[in-house]
Amino acid sequence: MYKFLIKGGKLLNGKVKVSGSKNASLPIIFAAILTEDAVISNVPDLRDTRTAISLLKDMGFEAEFDNNKLHVMKGKRIKTEADYELVRTMRASVLTLGPLLARFGKARVSLPGGCAIGARPVDLHLKALSKLGADIKIEHGYINAVASNGLKGAEIVFDFPTVGGTENLLMAAVLAKGKTIIMNAAKEPEIVDLARALKRAGAIIEGEGTDTIEVEGVDSIGPINYTVMPDRIEAGTFVACVAAAGGEVIIEEFPHDVLGAVIDKFKDAGVVIEKIDNKTAFVKSEGKLRGTDITTEVYPGFPTDMQAQFMAVMCLADGVSVIKETIFENRFQHVLELQRLGADIKIDGNTAIVRGVDRLIGAKVMATDLRASASLVVAGLAAENTTEIYRIYHLERGYENLEMKLSFLGADIEKVKSDRPY
Ligand code: EPZ
Repeated sequence: MYKFLIKGGKLLNGKVKVSGSKNASLPIIFAAILTEDAVISNVPDLRDTRTAISLLKDMGFEAEFDNNKLHVMKGKRIKTEADYELVRTMRASVLTLGPLLARFGKARVSLPGGCAIGARPVDLHLKALSKLGADIKIEHGYINAVASNGLKGAEIVFDFPTVGGTENLLMAAVLAKGKTIIMNAAKEPEIVDLARALKRAGAIIEGEGTDTIEVEGVDSIGPINYTVMPDRIEAGTFVACVAAAGGEVIIEEFPHDVLGAVIDKFKDAGVVIEKIDNKTAFVKSEGKLRGTDITTEVYPGFPTDMQAQFMAVMCLADGVSVIKETIFENRFQHVLELQRLGADIKIDGNTAIVRGVDRLIGAKVMATDLRASASLVVAGLAAENTTEIYRIYHLERGYENLEMKLSFLGADIEKVKSDRPY
């Protein structure tokens, strides 16, 4: 096991490049199930993308992953099953359900278990796929789905604009007979990226990025050949690092056009964010920031995946920040760890009241989930003395070479063997 050692108080300077998006890569990797051949570029090398590749290999697909380029080819015999051992390590594995059903007429996918940030059921996925004619039963912890006569297009209205549910449905509808209309669909940029990859391969889709997506089913799609968008949450995390530690940094592959709410809130707090060009941002932070309130919302609102990192920055801001989490019911676990660094945070239901303090002081802290661990890195960069972050395997699920990228910016961060069995 490994941990991070961060000696805080170093200003950040230089250039950093944002990797490909984890949350766009995962559905696009699983979209390979719909076709004979897929070449996907700019795929970040992460624990989660490697799990997705292992899952495809376990099903019988051939896959080569090198230098952020993934080539997936359909093998002779495909097992239409996503095994518990892999699914339990990554919930997004449930995104194999739609493509397997659409392509092979059956699927057996382990139910994703519990998650640190909330219950995260998949009821909306199953309800929608049933509307396309799938016969779905839950048995022994597995989703058993069959559509022996193929899926049939239908009108779907989601109770909530679920990201994963929209992606699963979109992939299923591509090969369903007739038209599917998805209403109250999620509008996240990763869904637009998935739709673009599918359209390039011959799928007929309209309205991606709006709350109504229309899909005209086709018999088959051609090879996928696509370059994944940059990771907007990694980009936002770098802004948080500069905001907390101070300094001047140029962020390359910065997706300005999908980070509106995040950029606005950091600017409200006093961070300088300038557009150098469509793909590059200049970020500068000096001195005390202003307390700023946020409420997490579905896109284009403030993303829940940036809540923890923003909270870490507000721990040292002037005044009070009220942070409301509306997407996941248990996404404040970083609060207890930030308090260990000296932060003043009170929780009241789904709201955290952060009172800015003069300084944070390094201590031993524990990562509990992906974005919570990123918030501890942000706080550690600003804290005096040394912060030791345990269970960094959470971080490696979603950040490619984070410690290397931050050390190039002048941070004193090291990945070392843990002195604990965790
Ligand atoms: C995606 O998760 C992301 N994961 C999450 O990022 C992100 O936090 C989330 O969208 C919201 O933006 C990936 O893309 C792999 P949802 P997903 O379905 O698809 C409830 C990260 O840090 N819900 O939009 O699981 C659910 O419980 C991760 O990178 C149901 O009740 O999100 C949650 O409260 C964490 N029933 C809310 O909706 C369902 O069937 C949003 O979930 C589906 C969802």
